[in-house]
Amino acid sequence: INIRRATINDIICMQNANLHNLPENYMMKYYMYHILSWPEASFVATTTDIGEPMDQSTEQLTLEDNRIGKIKLDPTYVAPNEKLVGYVLVKMNDDPDQSNDAPNGHITSLSVMRTYRRMGIAEKLMRQALFALREVYKAEYVSLHVRQSNRAALHLYRDTLEFEVLSIESSYYQDGEDAYAMKKVLKLEE
Ligand code: ACO
Repeated sequence: INIRRATINDIICMQNANLHNLPENYMMKYYMYHILSWPEASFVATTTDIGEPMDQSTEQLTLEDNRIGKIKLDPTYVAPNEKLVGYVLVKMNDDPDQSNDAPNGHITSLSVMRTYRRMGIAEKLMRQALFALREVYKAEYVSLHVRQSNRAALHLYRDTLEFEVLSIESSYYQDGEDAYAMKKVLKLEE
């Protein structure tokens, strides 16, 4: 497994992975906005071991097509011999209402394809992103939202990466589930 910076050439695959793995989906232009505005903040995990079966489960591919413009979804290979198995989509917070805050980053989306989970890939993606936020973009802290029921992600953020729970945002998700709003202060050595 190779972890590298995400580029504009990866965003179809990132969107595809997101559609497989999460109910929170985004339009292509939102991926572009991340990669073009903060080109060093987002990362992908890829493999050249393309012989292995890809997770083709379509259970979450029923997103309301209107939100992504009925894009034809195809688990596209990043390159003929490179397959995307995970990504972290990251931005700096550029909300003008919070322009007095210290620079801070936001984890928009993280996922790893099912057959590649529990191998440490998400942790590696996150550590790369946290390092880049701090070193390149001078972020003093990073925030994210996670479903209260998402045990795997909660374990990763709270226990492995030592994020703290800031608050509970009631009915944050479209289906009414609450989110934990989490934050981690970025120290120079991270
Ligand atoms: N149950 C309990 N703990 C788990 C689970 C699980 N199902 N999966 C991973 N962990 C733990 C690991 O044991 C490890 O803990 P350790 O440091 O104590 O050894 C830690 O979490 C990190 O594990 P990784 O192997 O790095 O995680 P993985 O690559 O499997 O990816 C992820 C975790 C991204 C949550 C994956 O399960 C996934 O893609 N889930 C669906 C999408 C999702 O929920 N994404 C997060 C949404 S929140 C957001 O995007 C901001």
